[in-house]
Amino acid sequence: MPTQTFTGSNRAAPDAVAVVGIFDQTARSGGLESLAGHATAEDIRVDDERLVVTLVLPGEMAKVASALVPALEQSIARAFPDFKPMVILTAHRSAPASPAAPRKAAGHRPLGGIGKPEGAPMLEGVGSVIAVASGKGGVGKSTTALNLAVALADMGLKTGLVDLDVHGPSLPRMLGVRDVQPEVKSGRLQPVQAWGISAMSIGLMVNEEQAMIWRGPMVMGAVTQLLGDVDWGTLDVLVLDLPPGTGDAQLTLAQKVKLAGALIVSTPQDIALLDARRGFTMFEKTGVPVLGLVENMSYFCCPECGHRTELFGHGGARREAEKLGVPFLGEVPLLPEIRFSADEGRPIVHTDPESPAGQAYRKIAGMIATALRKGKPA
Ligand SMILES: Nc1ncnc2c1ncn2[C@@H]1O[C@H](COP(=O)(O)OP(=O)(O)O)[C@@H](O)[C@H]1O
Ligand SMILES: [Mg+2]
Repeated sequence: MPTQTFTGSNRAAPDAVAVVGIFDQTARSGGLESLAGHATAEDIRVDDERLVVTLVLPGEMAKVASALVPALEQSIARAFPDFKPMVILTAHRSAPASPAAPRKAAGHRPLGGIGKPEGAPMLEGVGSVIAVASGKGGVGKSTTALNLAVALADMGLKTGLVDLDVHGPSLPRMLGVRDVQPEVKSGRLQPVQAWGISAMSIGLMVNEEQAMIWRGPMVMGAVTQLLGDVDWGTLDVLVLDLPPGTGDAQLTLAQKVKLAGALIVSTPQDIALLDARRGFTMFEKTGVPVLGLVENMSYFCCPECGHRTELFGHGGARREAEKLGVPFLGEVPLLPEIRFSADEGRPIVHTDPESPAGQAYRKIAGMIATALRKGKPA
């Protein structure tokens, strides 16, 4: 049974039968009649005019069906003009687990960009894709990703930022675009423009509490569509705000998207550094260069007397970076204004670039830009 969630809307939204009917029709008119009758609606969510539909298809059909997504979204929009639809496809895997993936039981696997034919380019117009990762949540990964992206844009690079932390989307708030609804043009979702960057987050489509309850396959479907089905256009650099940890999302991304590099954010405590090391190992295994480590909440400067307190034992990330043989990208102090600016949706690196926080983020952005230039063939 599909779950249906309605918030703030009393207009008639499509139900599972209507959505599946439209899918069948679209498949037929798109010359893919063999798909008709095979889709089930797993989830339909409405949040004002946003409508997020999750469809499940048998694995072998799902790849083919991903080509129908734009037409399907247009057909739903035509039939239900009060809503801006986004369709997420996931594949039901009925075959027994393959030897290559012995631990995976039958279930769903994601589609979208990942479902594209082998070798098909994803994020074609994007020069470099970099990931901002952390071993655990709450270490300031999103704050760093956001200020890094805005700083890169302020340096003149065409920059995008995508919030892939589907369970904890925070960029709409941090960018001050919570009330902005992304447009759909020719069936493609348009990133929102704020502070000089193009940005996208699942939090712009569904409210934060709804995204919290999504299960793994839906998360992966959403993640791949945020990358593959959003009209990113031409960008010099796309910054990915990854979910915390080293889960399936990270591995899949590392395998499917050509990452120019990853930046790992950690607080200075040993325990956080241990998680950061796991992140490093994961990227190393998947052949993604680690651009460096950032120590966030490195030390606290008393705003009254200027006294510096090293709450979490400052310097751990620098030593860890040395041990791992990766660059140390810098320290970001623990500053109340960093939190305030994030809460107010005003990236501090742009609103106060000369402040200690602004300078710290600009230094990191400068090092990243240099690393990316070096990585490019001349
Ligand atoms: N250097 C910092 N100084 C003060 N507050 C910070 C700093 N970095 C992050 N924060 C705050 O810490 C909280 C968690 O940061 P966030 O970027 O959301 O972490 P993550 O994405 O790793 O979960 C937020 O409230 C944020 O404003
Ligand atoms: Mg975050």
